[in-house]
Amino acid sequence: NKGSLWGGRFATGPADVMAALSKSTHFDWKLARYDIAGSKAHARVLHRAGLLTQDELDGMLSALTELEADVVAGRFQPAESDEDVHGALERGLLERAGTELGGKLRAGRSRNDQIATMVRMYLRDESRRIAAGVLDVVEALTAQAQKHPEAPMPGRTHLQHAQPVLLAHHLLAHAWPLLRDVDRLRDLDRRMAYSAYGSGALAGSSLGLDPAQVAHELGFNGPVENSIDGTASRDLVAEFSWVTAMIGVNLSRISEEVIIWATKEFGFVTLDDAYSTGSSIMPQKKNPDIAELARGKAGRLIGDLTGLLATLKALPLAYNRDLQEDKEPVFDAVDTLQLLLPAVSGMISTLTFHPQRLAELAPQGFSLATDIAEWLVRQGVPFRVAHEVAGECVRACEQHSPVKELHELTDQELAAIHPALTPAVREVLTVEGSLASRDAVGGTAPVRVAEQLQAAQQKAADF
Ligand code: ARG
Repeated sequence: NKGSLWGGRFATGPADVMAALSKSTHFDWKLARYDIAGSKAHARVLHRAGLLTQDELDGMLSALTELEADVVAGRFQPAESDEDVHGALERGLLERAGTELGGKLRAGRSRNDQIATMVRMYLRDESRRIAAGVLDVVEALTAQAQKHPEAPMPGRTHLQHAQPVLLAHHLLAHAWPLLRDVDRLRDLDRRMAYSAYGSGALAGSSLGLDPAQVAHELGFNGPVENSIDGTASRDLVAEFSWVTAMIGVNLSRISEEVIIWATKEFGFVTLDDAYSTGSSIMPQKKNPDIAELARGKAGRLIGDLTGLLATLKALPLAYNRDLQEDKEPVFDAVDTLQLLLPAVSGMISTLTFHPQRLAELAPQGFSLATDIAEWLVRQGVPFRVAHEVAGECVRACEQHSPVKELHELTDQELAAIHPALTPAVREVLTVEGSLASRDAVGGTAPVRVAEQLQAAQQKAADF
């Protein structure tokens, strides 16, 4: 088995079923360019350690550069006989540098430290791309908030009308978790910035190679402190996967609301034609498929994370072949978000909100009851009493047929409920009054929301 990295002690080659199960080139080929970058750095430390002459180093580097160009152009591809990306690229190197020189590169490294390092390089690059995609969603949300600085909407808890809030306030409430996701990716990068190269199979190298040099050449802050940890741990892959699952969950929460908002019953938004789909039988349909796919794919991202955690659970140290199963879920998570993020930001930025409908609904469902209670507190009534009184106002409204809203109670009706309920209470029985009164930091008063919008935009710009 000429291409194999490990033929020597075997009398026969692997059975077809063994080779088929073992094979990973159909997914790990994605890492080929990182592998070649690692090989170049490794060639340089071999030279530094006196294990390659200058001529050999030059020959090795030019063969690797040629191989890289062939990989990028698709001229070099994994063959049926290649077990994994490392084996395939070794074959490519031997074809270009000759078996004599090419055969020297593998000294002092193992696929175990190679793969651990390549995956970190991949995840660091993809983290940056995902962060940019998440920031586009944030930008879509803040742009909509900016477009509707004063529009009220019914704020809900338990999906029931609770208190009026500004639409901008609500939209920004979706932006902050996403900003924290970007923060998480940045923070995770600090931990991923250590290279496993030099760990060898698990115990390190005896050849006088300098792991710090390889690490710096590959853009890491330094090498890992422990070669067993370097080759056996996948907590960073799991942490990355958790962040992608969290992003999926955050997108699905936005999406669920878009789906509800676009119903006939809510009528808060209209989806743009370019970001919705039709039905093959019902000519009138306009469906929120992006939002539904985002909601569905959140499940898939959670599955990627839980599958990986299940693989890691109870694995003994150090490397085990189970660890090869880390890649497909994490690649899937990356590919899923690359598809999803631009679709969601496009959907959000092209939503048409209906401020009139939102404003009409904002005071309904007795959503100003808390304002009555808090107004009474400002008149010196204890909150326990004020809460009861406001509750009685709601009950009085419900005794009418059709049911009244709080502002429709007469002065006499109010006074009969409690003597402190003078007509002056009407100042908070409007949505505008209610909104304006919630003016502490983080509240829904227009002046605070305007500040909050600026803070969110600033936070996004600072990344
Ligand atoms: N393809 C493996 C992985 O993805 C790396 C190869 C390690 N193989 C081995 N027999 N030690 O984890």
